[in-house]
Amino acid sequence: MDHDDIPVLTIDGPTASGKGTVAQKVARTLGYHYLDSGALYRLTALSAHRRHVDLADEHALAKLAADLPCSFSGEHVLLAHEDVSDAIRAEAVGNAASRIAALPAVRQALYGLQLRFRTGPGLVADGRDMGTVLFPHAPLKVFLTASVEARAQRRHKQLIGKGFSANIQDLRKDLSERDARDANRAIAPLRPAEDAHYLDTSDMTADEAVQAVLGWYAAVRKAH
Ligand code: DC
Repeated sequence: MDHDDIPVLTIDGPTASGKGTVAQKVARTLGYHYLDSGALYRLTALSAHRRHVDLADEHALAKLAADLPCSFSGEHVLLAHEDVSDAIRAEAVGNAASRIAALPAVRQALYGLQLRFRTGPGLVADGRDMGTVLFPHAPLKVFLTASVEARAQRRHKQLIGKGFSANIQDLRKDLSERDARDANRAIAPLRPAEDAHYLDTSDMTADEAVQAVLGWYAAVRKAH
């Protein structure tokens, strides 16, 4: 298959919207690869923290991102062979990821790495700019949202499940601040692609959301 013909489904949306869960399930159902682009920003942030790199040092951060010794094995995320799947989910790491994601040199450093996930038979990519910047010609683009309340509840459940302590009020504040930062930054802000399908999952289960995405994808494939 020609590289440009490898199908890509993009699922963008705000943090804790459930897009990761939905994207993984869609990928598994279709037998496609999965790109969790947020994990790359989180890995860069974690790496910076461990190496005491200042979060304002764009040049040093971009270098870390360009040489990120990461790999993905099933649901596990490795940084230099260490399993950091849980460590990158800490709120402090997510907040640092959101800050460094506003730096153009960091985004540029991660650009090529993300494109390399596009291999046959197909890719499901989740993030903020998958449909707008990375894969603007993807045959299916989804913008997945949920209310701040629903997202705070989901993030709370996720954090407690991983053994982190969490407080709903703090999470609500955190999510709103992160939304504002991700949506208002100058480069690759969080926004739906013009041809994106909207999916508000506030009152939906993950499986219902997966069915909606698969339904749209079946329609797109039939039309081509
Ligand atoms: O989806 P997430 O919460 O794991 O992402 C962590 C941060 O990384 C998010 O606040 C903004 C940034 N990010 C981004 O700027 N672009 C992406 N494609 C994915 C994530």
